[in-house]
Amino acid sequence: MPNEKPKFYLTTPIYYTNGLPHIGHTYTTVIADAIRRYKRMRGYEVVMTTGTDEHGVNVERAAQKAGIPESEYVARMAVAWKALWDELGIPADEFIRTTDIRHVRTVQWLFKLCKENGYVYKGNYTGQYCIYDNAFVTDAKPGDNCPDCGRPTETVTEENYYFKLSAFQKPLLDFYKKNPNFIQPETRKNEIISFVEGGLKDLSITRTTVRWGIPVPGEEPHVFYVWFDALTAYLSAVGGPDYEKRGFWPCDLHLVGKDIIRFHSVYWPAFLMAAMLPVPKQVWAHGWFLMDASKMSKSKGNVVLPRPIANMLGMDAMRYFLMREVVFGQDGNFSYDALVTRYNSDLANGLGNLASRTAAMIEKNFGGKIPKSGPRLPQDDALAKVASEAVGEALDRFEKFEFARSLETIWSAITAADKYLTSEQPWAMGDSEADTQRKATILWTTTELLRVVTVLAHPVLPDSTAKVWTLLGQPGRISAVELDGLRWGQLVAGVQLGKAQALFPRVDKQEAIERIEAMANEELNPTQQPAPAAAPAPTATAGGAAAAPAPEKIGIEDFTKVEMRVGQIKTAERIVGADKLLKLTVDIGTEIRQICAGIAQFYEPEKLIGRKVAVVVNLAPRKLRGVESNGMIVAASVGPEGRPVLAGFPDEDVEIGARLK
Ligand code: MSP
Repeated sequence: MPNEKPKFYLTTPIYYTNGLPHIGHTYTTVIADAIRRYKRMRGYEVVMTTGTDEHGVNVERAAQKAGIPESEYVARMAVAWKALWDELGIPADEFIRTTDIRHVRTVQWLFKLCKENGYVYKGNYTGQYCIYDNAFVTDAKPGDNCPDCGRPTETVTEENYYFKLSAFQKPLLDFYKKNPNFIQPETRKNEIISFVEGGLKDLSITRTTVRWGIPVPGEEPHVFYVWFDALTAYLSAVGGPDYEKRGFWPCDLHLVGKDIIRFHSVYWPAFLMAAMLPVPKQVWAHGWFLMDASKMSKSKGNVVLPRPIANMLGMDAMRYFLMREVVFGQDGNFSYDALVTRYNSDLANGLGNLASRTAAMIEKNFGGKIPKSGPRLPQDDALAKVASEAVGEALDRFEKFEFARSLETIWSAITAADKYLTSEQPWAMGDSEADTQRKATILWTTTELLRVVTVLAHPVLPDSTAKVWTLLGQPGRISAVELDGLRWGQLVAGVQLGKAQALFPRVDKQEAIERIEAMANEELNPTQQPAPAAAPAPTATAGGAAAAPAPEKIGIEDFTKVEMRVGQIKTAERIVGADKLLKLTVDIGTEIRQICAGIAQFYEPEKLIGRKVAVVVNLAPRKLRGVESNGMIVAASVGPEGRPVLAGFPDEDVEIGARLK
């Protein structure tokens, strides 16, 4: 077919359904989306797959706990994952669920091919198994904990089907040699090569102890083990056994976190080689986003959720931060402070301000029509050179997945334009013909720079760059601009600007962080009423209580789930940058806890020392303004502004640690 676009297929991992997406999962999906948009602007027909990994013991247990069948549990979770990606503007082209029939068929077909080719056999296995990570723990003894998650392992013996991974040591090493870009970045590649050089053990790929899985045809109760099942989802999503019809296999790019690089760069190509199917072209492992140098987890109370950030600052701000803040491939620290700082400096004061002030000047001086450039001075050409070089450099860096550096290039062009305006001062010029001509040149030059950087930034900031595009009155959709044809000087004069657009309104850092945290707390603990003493909700609306339905009655068994004890405040101090919070240490009888309480505006810290208070001691720990809070001090919420009044025991000498019933 003439004019057929080249195809590009990329994937994110197929995420587990035992939790909901946090910023780490969002990171991978955002990067995949940005690459997808970029590739489309480079003329490719792109398919991006994401999905849900729905089998295994964890799901069995979670469903049991929820009192619903597994199928219903995973269906609900898959809907939630898909809906969130859609809401965040990073939808899948193919959303694959490992319970989809098209996937079940593909796994069974792949197994059949591997078996027919002699790479599968039956055996017995006894080992220590971590049910949380769905993996046997190599070299572990009974009683050992899982080295990854620290939780106890279980001894499991079962009949398994084995995959002859050991037969693939040489083919894999040869493959890595022939395809030096298969594993990226280089450090990961070296790790994997040494791992494979160290020898490969055969791999058990089925289970008989697990019920919730894809059945091995004719071999029940065998079901496929998590990695043989999950990895195959990439192929199921683009046709499975009929992959040739769609033409998206082999996959161009598997994006994964560093935690799962081995499965993708060792097991997966080996399965495909065994089945004599084409092997993916590249696996790219990025680092982790950490919270205070440790991995996020709900039990640690340090998960960062994407929705509250998107609600407060917009999705583009989150995308920009994730891609600008860390070098792709390395670990990075997530902090709300850094997020909001970048938002204000790079987006509100940077791109947003340049766009709105340029448009305002064109409006004022040229009736909203982009003026024609007059004679050019060296400084105009110097700016043109910056922008023109930025095109090559930003694209080159993006192509190499150096996202932070690509954005750095784009933002240095924005800074150069700001400096240019500051030194040229078009606003200080009069209305003489010479001045008007000079203003025209300056504003044409600035607008052209804006057009160029807007196009370059589009894959990372899709919504706001589309708004700038409209503001500049540019034709068509910005996503349809071909990056290969982007050059300095293409801006057409005489074009009428479009409607003014709200881009990145500046925010007060402290308030923004408090709002994001309040929304996140609410999302993580939805049944919990906003706790006045622990976390004041800044957006609480008057009248909300009246509109709420009558609270459901609970039984005593529900009440006893809340463990409240008498505690004594040992220390109290203010938290820098958080007006409403006090950091307390509280003796609860068995230990001294650190607890944050939203009472700073009503209680002097020094007057609290020695005071006995009621403490909820079994609340999951969480972070408030970056400070860990492990429990909650109980307070009445008084008056329209919800003034906290601490619950206490003024008349009785109660014992510290006594339980409230
Ligand atoms: N289901 C498997 C993957 C099967 S792929 C065939 C799985 N799922 S997961 O839900 O645990 O998602 C893991 C992926 O989420 C990581 O590889 C990474 O892409 C992303 N992240 C999860 N936490 C992360 C951070 N804290 N930081 C960055 N990304 C991380 O493993």
